[in-house]
Amino acid sequence: MRRSTFEKAGATFFYSAIADFFFVNTWYSLVSKLDKNGEETFLNYGFADLDGAKIELAPELEVHRYAVQLYHHVVSRAAVRGKNVLEIGCGRGGGASYVAQTLQPRRYVGLDVNRTAIAFDRRFYRNQKNLEFIAGDAHALPFADGVFDVAVNVESCHHYRDLDTFLAEVHRVLVPGGTFLMACFPRKNEMSLLREPLRRSRFECVLEEDITSNVMRALETDSARREAAVRRLCPAPLRTFGREFAGVRDSELYESFASGKRPYLNFVLQKST
Ligand SMILES: C[S@@+](CC[C@H](N)C(=O)[O-])C[C@H]1O[C@@H](n2cnc3c(N)ncnc32)[C@H](O)[C@@H]1O
Repeated sequence: MRRSTFEKAGATFFYSAIADFFFVNTWYSLVSKLDKNGEETFLNYGFADLDGAKIELAPELEVHRYAVQLYHHVVSRAAVRGKNVLEIGCGRGGGASYVAQTLQPRRYVGLDVNRTAIAFDRRFYRNQKNLEFIAGDAHALPFADGVFDVAVNVESCHHYRDLDTFLAEVHRVLVPGGTFLMACFPRKNEMSLLREPLRRSRFECVLEEDITSNVMRALETDSARREAAVRRLCPAPLRTFGREFAGVRDSELYESFASGKRPYLNFVLQKST
């Protein structure tokens, strides 16, 4: 499908700092309002193994396979069984629910700045005993020092205004030796905005992995389902943003992965003991 100049400009605006400032919260609240039945409980671009290997999933999660696989890939880099885990930017809780159920941490806390999403999460996952949700800001985590063994952050930090503060907060709430798992997609020409705060932080980077091809494969395989979800949930005037947000095959976002303008990176960061 060819996009008009207007659509391209809209897509570029969608990822600008100005848009982030004015309507990220509105957009995420709207997603929660449009999807009242909880059909879309993941808001990420997914992960596919390039050899076609698939993780085992409960039948009801099959529709979210690639988004679940992203969480599985990111979180299985640390031992979480029996541990206390914090997720910052948990969105609509699909990943939190999957990890809490399957990888069996002692306690999994999902935090998000969007109160509509947190209200949804509390209702939707109320029967999962090791899972709780709290509204809060990544820049001022509402927890005491050293209470979590592992922290998780999936496709959220591109919204934060101050990565130095965010990284210091994650470092503070982790126990000595704790692990921070972070998946993100910085623009290549703005890489220093991520690299410099990481270098200045007190974390040691033990793994940096480029998973762009895995994310693109997931988007390609899942594109028709994503298109259908946008048509089903988004009113017509919002579909340009909806398609961009969903990362469908001809979106600016997908093309920025394909052209190398945006690598998709997965980090394992360690707090010293
Ligand atoms: C693209 S969604 C990803 C959600 C989830 N990680 C997933 O993969 O489904 C980004 C999330 O980050 C949240 N977010 C943005 N800024 C935040 C902040 N300052 N503190 C906490 N969460 C934030 C948004 O509200 C949104 O739910």
